[in-house]
Amino acid sequence: MSHVDDIIKEIDAIAPTSRIINRILELANDPEGSISDLADIVKCDLTLTAKLLKLCNSAYYGFPVFVDSVDQAVKLLGENRVVELAVLGGVGQNLTKALRGYDLKRGELWTCSFASALLAKSFSEKAHPGSDKFLVYTASLLKDIGKVVIEGYVGRSFAKIENLVKKKGYNFDEAETEVIGINHAELGGLIAERWNFSPKMIYFIRNHHLSDPGAREDLETVIIYLIDTVSRMAHTGIGADGLAYRVYDEIFGRLGVSEADVKDLLTEFHLNHNIARRMYHLIGSPTG
Ligand SMILES: [Fe+2]
Repeated sequence: MSHVDDIIKEIDAIAPTSRIINRILELANDPEGSISDLADIVKCDLTLTAKLLKLCNSAYYGFPVFVDSVDQAVKLLGENRVVELAVLGGVGQNLTKALRGYDLKRGELWTCSFASALLAKSFSEKAHPGSDKFLVYTASLLKDIGKVVIEGYVGRSFAKIENLVKKKGYNFDEAETEVIGINHAELGGLIAERWNFSPKMIYFIRNHHLSDPGAREDLETVIIYLIDTVSRMAHTGIGADGLAYRVYDEIFGRLGVSEADVKDLLTEFHLNHNIARRMYHLIGSPTG
């Protein structure tokens, strides 16, 4: 059995996402869907319900009333926030652990992914309202899920990977493929497949570093790529692969993003990262 077969087998060792995420994403895009339909779906997941109520009753939101029902929580938070939190609650447990192969401490992948996802959603909403903000959010949150499975292999082969990046100009994901046989984006696509995400979501995750040239023409994929690039430029909890990826300058122009806009996006990312750190202690951390 090859290295890659062993790695793919390890997908089963990570916790599956909550089944309700796909239903929530479908409802979020359904013009007929109502906020009470959303509450009904959330109620099916007890862990998510508990996290939602904990958040509503935390100092972070500071609602003046004690919130003890999902219906009340959904009304207070609104659809946008509930979808964000539901997706985060459904996938977040897999993003918490330390990834030594990527030099990420416990919680760093969670906070960085959540901060990126919030930024990707707000950029999608404001700058490209024709894009699907909830899909962009979810894919941005999950884009590096493959790292959770492959990190041990990356750690053991780091010197070889680093050599290809520094001496031969490889992208980090290209070097992963060369040395390990598969990269974290490809593996993330396989995980998304295993979790029955839509073909679009699988494509976004697999191509968040724009490995397929066709992805450079796809609006949502380039938004996810842009915000991933901005979050790595912010240099906060980004890990060992850091800036070892090609920057496709033309994407910035295609999305209408100027240098001044990049500065604004970096500022927004840092704000989101602070929010994400507080949220991690409330609902993300296994002890939270
Ligand atoms: Fe990545």
